[in-house]
Amino acid sequence: MVAASGITLFLISCTPKATTVTTVNATTSEKLAQGKTIFENSCKRCHDLPNPSDHSAQDWVGIMNAMAPKAKLNDEQHQLVYDFVVSVKKQ
Ligand code: HEC
Repeated sequence: MVAASGITLFLISCTPKATTVTTVNATTSEKLAQGKTIFENSCKRCHDLPNPSDHSAQDWVGIMNAMAPKAKLNDEQHQLVYDFVVSVKKQ
């Protein structure tokens, strides 16, 4: 009984937070660096790494909606990669 309730607690406390911890206090530039890393690691598996400035910010919304599930990104990673590619576009 004790062991079973311990497992339940573990699942409740760890499941939703596990992926958000690292960025809670991250600055914008840290977030962009994270987005860049995720982009470089996740987005070249099926095709060459796309050039962020080849597409408008609006296009990237649709592209990321299509590609984030392919790259198995969670919502936060999706947002980090989107913010990164759009930031490159503006430079
Ligand atoms: C599981 C394989 C896979 C992964 C991972 C993947 N892509 Fe793609 N990507 C594709 C395929 C297949 C196409 C071409 C067919 C299509 O448009 O669905 C494509 C097309 C694209 C295009 C061209 C779209 C256009 O309209 O010209 C861009 C840009 C792109 N991917 C960006 C990304 C980014 C950014 C990531 C990382 C978040 C990513 N892809 C990860 C498979 C993948």
